[in-house]
Amino acid sequence: MARMRTLLSVVRLTVDPALNARRDLAFAAGIEIISTILSVAGPYSLKLLIDRMAAGDISFALLTGLVLIFVLTMATGAVSALRAVHVQRIIDAVHARLVEQVVSERLSNLATSRDDDSMRVAGLLERLPFSLQIVIDGLLWRVAPLIAQTCLCLLVIAWLTPPFYALLMAFIIILYGAATWVGARWHRKNADVANTAIGNSSRLLADVLRNARRVVHNGALGLELDRISQKMTARRMTNEALSWSLVRLSLLQFVAIGLGLLWLLVLSGQDVSAGRMTVGDFVLLQAFATRLLLPLAGFGFIMSQASVAMATIEDVLARIGGARRAVPPDLPDRAPAHIRVDKVSHAYDDLPVLRDICFSIPAGSFAALVGANGSGKSTLAQIMAGAIQPDSGKVSVSGRDMQTIPLEWRHRHILYVPQFVGLLNRSLGENALYPPSQHEESELVQLLEAWNFYEPGRTIDLSRPVGELGERLSGGQIQKLELARISGIDVPALILDESSSALDPAAEAKIVLELRARMAGRTTLVAISHRASVAAMADQVVFLERGRVAAVGLHADLLASSASYRDLWNRDAGPEQ
Ligand SMILES: Nc1ncnc2c1ncn2[C@@H]1O[C@H](COP(=O)(O)OP(=O)(O)O)[C@@H](O)[C@H]1O
Ligand SMILES: [Mg+2]
Repeated sequence: MARMRTLLSVVRLTVDPALNARRDLAFAAGIEIISTILSVAGPYSLKLLIDRMAAGDISFALLTGLVLIFVLTMATGAVSALRAVHVQRIIDAVHARLVEQVVSERLSNLATSRDDDSMRVAGLLERLPFSLQIVIDGLLWRVAPLIAQTCLCLLVIAWLTPPFYALLMAFIIILYGAATWVGARWHRKNADVANTAIGNSSRLLADVLRNARRVVHNGALGLELDRISQKMTARRMTNEALSWSLVRLSLLQFVAIGLGLLWLLVLSGQDVSAGRMTVGDFVLLQAFATRLLLPLAGFGFIMSQASVAMATIEDVLARIGGARRAVPPDLPDRAPAHIRVDKVSHAYDDLPVLRDICFSIPAGSFAALVGANGSGKSTLAQIMAGAIQPDSGKVSVSGRDMQTIPLEWRHRHILYVPQFVGLLNRSLGENALYPPSQHEESELVQLLEAWNFYEPGRTIDLSRPVGELGERLSGGQIQKLELARISGIDVPALILDESSSALDPAAEAKIVLELRARMAGRTTLVAISHRASVAAMADQVVFLERGRVAAVGLHADLLASSASYRDLWNRDAGPEQ
């Protein structure tokens, strides 16, 4: 039933007017109709030819016409190639559409849930074109013409030969259908297992390839190869099970068709020898039987591929939600935001991370969020920016509940810069000018030079590639690039999650001060930091301890009033305070 729904969804996708594939659909259907008519007319012309020739009653024109029709029916290769041109266009259009939908849907989910699904999605999308090819071209586009051909052939048989033969053919086809249904049920289970195994191995491969340095430089190549080999063995075994279930399916189909054909041959042979049937009728019957039943026998292979392909398509469809979201709602004022955190609590599964957090950050001020590792700073920052929904409590930005703003527009109110910045594998310039930055190139280069992005004397070339995840840059350079980008953004509030932690303390102080000055009057700034120098610059420090607000105030005041605050700096920052 689920598979039928998937097939219907695929059909709906192909006929969707938005796909702009209706012309191709019409052409392909036209070609298919012509070939169906020819496939029925071919055996009929052969029958006429034989019967008329046997009776010695045939004109030259009729002879030529009949031979021509019969020869034309042999041109199936050219006809199906012509049809394939149009079907391929339809498949490509459906593929492009699905990729766009999955990416737009999954990116939002991946960004908020941080699950480990990205590699699976990538593998899935890679397998998608092949799966669509199998289902649309191999299955759907063959089933409908086959049904039409079957009905036409049965009609012609019923018209020209004793009705018993039409009934017999119909019976064989029903027997074949039943055998296929039983075989396909076994096969389907194996197909689902095989699809999971394929997904697992491609996910592992992508993960290992992406972490090549970590693997090789730690001498773990052998270990990873073993792991890959295990997954590949699992994949081979599931494929083997799949092949065997295909053998069973094909055998069942063969038994149904083989027995049926034998029966047909024997009975019609007897009828010819008893004079109840002409040789032409006999040939017609056999031609229809082989024409209809032999392609059915080959259908098992398509079905076997189709089960895996359908599982892939089902997986893809399950990742597509509803319609695309609408255009941006009301945009925030250009004024800096006032942020209020009100009784926020949050747990990851059963691990409580934040408890009853309350504080507020006045518009345009600079707040530092500090606390030991694991105290919940990053979680709180993401809740403030609306990237995580808290279990209870709320965050409001200039009086508006963050959760009431659509997910993809929350960054227009509060922009969160995550702790680990992974750059796109593009040029320095493309990364540094990434939206919503509005920098001019020259301004950006000036800033990077002033921040000593490279060692003195080396010029900044924005066209240089940064490598995968920015691997060609140092941790400090990645942070400088990101901070330079951020400084070109106009947003009511900005949260930096340890965004300057890899810089040396002097560079960090200079850059934070500069950012502060650039954003004065337009952005409320929140910085998560482990540096006392940053806390000392802040208008307000929010000190988190084991998921609770332990103290709020000026750095100097907290140092004087809170022993655990003093401990934090003594433990983490040593003499730096
Ligand atoms: N996505 C997550 N799933 C499960 N636990 C998490 C997740 N993110 C963070 N944690 C856990 O929540 C706690 C707080 O993490 P975090 O907010 O990152 O702290 P901080 O930024 O202060 O170091 C840590 O114990 C961390 O392991
Ligand atoms: Mg953190």
